Amino acid sequence: MMIVSSLDELRSARLLLDGTVGLVPTMGYLHEGHLSLIRRAKAECKSVVVSIFVNPTQFGPNEDLAKYPRDLERDLKLIEPLGVDLVWNPTAEVMYPNGYQTWVEVEALTKGLEGAMRPSHFRGVTTVVAKLFNAVQPHKAYFGQKDAQQAAVIRRMTQDLNFPLEVVVCPIVREADGLAMSSRNKYLEGDDRKAALVLFQALSAAKEAYETGERDAETLRRKMKEVIAAEPRAQMQYVSCADYDSLEELETVTGKTLFSMAVLIGKTRLIDNFVLG
Ligand code: PAF
Repeated sequence: MMIVSSLDELRSARLLLDGTVGLVPTMGYLHEGHLSLIRRAKAECKSVVVSIFVNPTQFGPNEDLAKYPRDLERDLKLIEPLGVDLVWNPTAEVMYPNGYQTWVEVEALTKGLEGAMRPSHFRGVTTVVAKLFNAVQPHKAYFGQKDAQQAAVIRRMTQDLNFPLEVVVCPIVREADGLAMSSRNKYLEGDDRKAALVLFQALSAAKEAYETGERDAETLRRKMKEVIAAEPRAQMQYVSCADYDSLEELETVTGKTLFSMAVLIGKTRLIDNFVLG
């Protein structure tokens, strides 16, 4: 497994990879969700590149950039047995050298949901992902459905900017009790860990109602809100029942629908979603 950090090293290492190249972009502190993306890439591509970069431009001024968990040694130990060919671990100076001033922005899709709560977040995500695509030149790139809006925004950007690659969105990986895997789960201690199940429970309540025929989106949103309100440690940020592609809030559920939410459990902000229909 080659491990590089500068752009020159990355480009030389990339030239040594043949066949279909799959890229798995990550911010490190890997968990089973990331490993499932790497396994899928490995199953579908001859060569697999994993990038590990905690991207400062996708964190807001009051977000946890300095606190974001980092452990490269641990990440490399997890990646090695999966047969990854190349790990790119650039510094912030490599990605954003002095004088940097170029941004990639997807418009309407980034206005609601996470974008409404975290105004500059997606500009940072699309900029860094475009830079990763340009540098690595993968044939396929793998993202998790857990960040549903991110996946939709990256699909749009890839299409709009004519990147010649396929965006593959992989299912959410959950703990045995339903909690969606996330690097942030490490902050959940004691009663907060149990309270965090409220996201899965609220989504399950909406799913049950949907499966028994409920199609009124406001009723489905209300069902999710009621479950969250019943958990004293949870503070709802948003609950959404939106069209899967446009992410516009629905009145009536007809086609493929994204049920999603962001909830604070103590100080830890969690997101989760189900896709139905
Ligand atoms: O999902 C993530 O970990 C990040 O947003 C990504 C796609 C690696 C960009 O920094």
